[in-house]
Amino acid sequence: MQKIPVAGPWITEKEIQYVTDAVTNAWYGNANMYHERFEKAFAEYIGAKYAMALPTCTSAIHLSLLALGVKEGDEVIVPDATWIASSAPISYVGATPVFADIDLQTWCLSAESFEACITPKTKAVIPVDLYGGMPDMDAIRAIARRHNIAIIEDAAEALGAEYKGKRAGSFGDTGVFSFHGSKTVTTGEGGMLVTDREDLFKRIQVLHDHGRQPGDRMFWNTEVAYKYKMSSMQAALGLAQLERMDELLKRKREQFAWYKQELASADGITLNAEPEGTLNAYWMVTIVLDPKLGLNKTQLMERLSQHGIDTRPFFHPLSSIPAYEDSKQAHIARERNKAVYGISPYSINLPSALSLGKEEIKTVCAALMDVLNG
Ligand SMILES: Cc1ncc(COP(=O)(O)O)c(C=O)c1O
Repeated sequence: MQKIPVAGPWITEKEIQYVTDAVTNAWYGNANMYHERFEKAFAEYIGAKYAMALPTCTSAIHLSLLALGVKEGDEVIVPDATWIASSAPISYVGATPVFADIDLQTWCLSAESFEACITPKTKAVIPVDLYGGMPDMDAIRAIARRHNIAIIEDAAEALGAEYKGKRAGSFGDTGVFSFHGSKTVTTGEGGMLVTDREDLFKRIQVLHDHGRQPGDRMFWNTEVAYKYKMSSMQAALGLAQLERMDELLKRKREQFAWYKQELASADGITLNAEPEGTLNAYWMVTIVLDPKLGLNKTQLMERLSQHGIDTRPFFHPLSSIPAYEDSKQAHIARERNKAVYGISPYSINLPSALSLGKEEIKTVCAALMDVLNG
């Protein structure tokens, strides 16, 4: 039996046409035509001056840290609840990740915890717009400004989200996005970096192309750098998806509304928040169970799987996973981060694939009620 999928894209004839055109025509003098269109349309959508298409969001975070000059001996603050891609690039540049606690309402970086984690070594912070929701950006930006800390906004999961009328990804020195196959807009694998800062953009242009200056025709490398590029077929797919962004976001928000309606009578569960002044892009509909229900996330995932429903665990605290558990910062975080340790064991992502309609979501909710009541 095919399970109800937890994540997946919505591909139409338009995407197939654009990719077919790219594979047919985006060569020779036209090799960059889809990159140029995708980057321009993306920058406009976000409200940023510059955009660069990249192979992943992970590479966008890596390039951001490099361009900001973050290096060995520096500290970078990340929320303890996120995918490891938010923090792994901190280690790539030799710096130390510091795991701050989350806000219990938004599940994103807590401004107070961020401030408490700052030391003279702190060079950057990476707030994450978790599952399509937004952190308290005003507070985070004010703290960062006061302490002269750069912001890399990890909007990998939040394309289309808004905070006080501005789009997710536009709040930092750089903003980064993922187009992995699970994301609202996909290119299979892919990423985008946006910025308003010309100095950072110019530096990233060199860093992403093996140390070549933009327009270099002599294959003249001025430094050892990286090869982080997207293909034109991916850029064509991304452009077609972005041109359908209103429709994709509408579907995401509809799905959340169906869940909310179907689960209105369920006791002891909390769904994604949409605080006043924000627009949640609901990349993943997520539930937090009251521990009093006596079910943890592993048990709930297993029970739903028996009903043919695929789910994902809420991110395990980074400070709890083998990759980091022995580090000094992980020890400190495990003592300090009460909010993330309070909810992560009891929370899962429900099926949020763009292919799902109301009937499938009703099926998921009926199974969930069955598990919760049984
Ligand atoms: C919060 C967050 N940051 C970064 C990434 C990394 O994205 P990519 O897989 O495109 O490198 C992801 C992807 O899943 C993510 O969810």
